[in-house]
Order: sequence, then structure tokens, then C-alpha cells
Amino acid sequence: MPLRFLHCSDIHLLSLRGVGPHRFINKRLTGGVNLLLKRGKHHDEALFDRMVEHARALAVDRVVITGDLTNLALEQEFEHVVAKLEGVGLPITIIPGNHDAYTRGSMRTRRFEIMLGQYMDGERGAGDEAYYPFVQRFGEVALIGVSTAHASLPLYAVGTVGAAQLERLDEILARLDAEGLARVVLIHHPVMPGVAKRRHDLLDIDAFGQVIARRGAELILHGHEHVAIEGTIPGPREPVPVHGVSSGTNLSQHPGREAAFCVYRIEGRSIERDVHRWDGEDFRLVEGPSAAPAGAIG
Ligand SMILES: [Fe+2]
Ligand SMILES: [Fe+2]
Repeated sequence: MPLRFLHCSDIHLLSLRGVGPHRFINKRLTGGVNLLLKRGKHHDEALFDRMVEHARALAVDRVVITGDLTNLALEQEFEHVVAKLEGVGLPITIIPGNHDAYTRGSMRTRRFEIMLGQYMDGERGAGDEAYYPFVQRFGEVALIGVSTAHASLPLYAVGTVGAAQLERLDEILARLDAEGLARVVLIHHPVMPGVAKRRHDLLDIDAFGQVIARRGAELILHGHEHVAIEGTIPGPREPVPVHGVSSGTNLSQHPGREAAFCVYRIEGRSIERDVHRWDGEDFRLVEGPSAAPAGAIG
């Protein structure tokens, strides 16, 4: 049975409803509110709603969101995200992004995991420390959810996988490979060196790359940069494809930054992808097997 899923990222759903001023006494949050008000002009939640309509029309099996569902990781934002995701009407898999762990408080209370854990169900180690990576199996396909999310200094948006999580990832990739599964790694930060902006990068990108070089994966999906990114990183047998999708709600029409989602069809270890991009009015199919003109195949 193939798995067909929609991949999007960085939806940054905006809600300050019911957020009292006391929440902004914290200096980080004050800076965050400025960021959020600016962001409000560039991201439109209506694009997420439209994307969901496409997901239903395309009858995908699942929607996968690779982090930054919120902006400041406030409870009110998570409540808004929960309501939005409940309205999707399709199974959903998520992982956190740096904005979902914006403050140390949100990290300490494990707000993301507590409020959105239902979308990260799966096989995992015991205890909070081993929450990530989690593994979701769908026939011959496995989604492996990695977290890079942690609070960082103002103006920084870095991420870290961490030695303990990398060790578990190494073991998981080896085990699922032995089982013959197609392994799809979900991670928020870009994993190709030189792709992320300064102070925006994955701090242990080399260590992550070493795990992939040793164990391989069939596909790595990420977000974070709000730009379409495509390439490979070395694997043990062959290069591993890496696809970064732009933000799912960005109103920009700057090439590469337009809102987009991809639909993947994975059967055995064969992977097909359609790219749908926002053109200012709607998401249009712009690339992939389904976009090929009649007669061009074969
Ligand atoms: Fe983002
Ligand atoms: Fe991010």
C-alpha cells in the first residue's frame, strides 16, 4: 500500500486572542510581539485553510507539518492550533520548530508535547527525555519525527538535535532499514550545510550528517527557512534526497518564497512528488508527475 501525504511547514498560525498584557512583561515576549505583528502582515491563515481544502480534494492519507505551527509558543496559540488541526478532518503528523519552543517556560512545561502530542503518537523510548525521535509506521513507510526545537537568544533561531537523540536516531534508522521500510525523516531545520542563514542554523548539522551518512534514509523533509530548498546529503549507498518546503502561509510572491505544499506518494522505496505553489489566488500544481502534460510520460 502506498502512502500519500501532504507536506507543509511553518504555518505560523496567529492568535493573540485572550492574551493578557502580563504575558508581554517578559522582554523576550515583547520582542516576540513585534515580530509577530510584522509576521501578521506576511502570513495569512486563509492559505492554510485553502491548503486543507486541497488536501481533502486530493484525498491524501495524511498531512505532515514540519514545525513552526505557532509564533511565540503561548498557550493561546496552541489552543488555536489545536482547534485548527481538529478541523482538518485528516490524520496529521507534526514535529516542533523553534517557534514552538520560543521561551524557556514553554520548553520547561513541554507545552508543545502536552497540547499537541496526539499528532506525534508512535513508537518512542521511555520517559520525556526520549520523546524524540518518534516513529510512525504506515505499511512499508516510516515517518521519523526529530526535534531540533529549543529556546534561543533574541535574534537567534538555531536548533540542536543533541547527542542522545542522534544516538537513538542512528539505532532507529539501522533497525528500520533492516526491516526494509522507506524511512522519511522529519526535521525542522535544514540539514544541508550552507543553506540556513547565520544564527538560524542547525548547530549539530555535522553530527546529524554523520548519522545519515552511516545509516541512510530514503527522504528528509524540513522547513524553517521559508524558502524552497532541494538537494541531497551523503548516505551509505546513495545520496539522500532533502526537500525543504517554503512556509505554507506566506503571502510573498518572491520566487522560491511563495507558500507551497508538496504531495508525496511513497510505495516501496519509490518516491514521487507533486509541488503546489501559491500564485496569489490559489495553490496550483506546478511540478511533478501529476503536472506532466499528457503524452509526456512514457
Ligand atoms: Fe518558520
Ligand atoms: Fe523555524
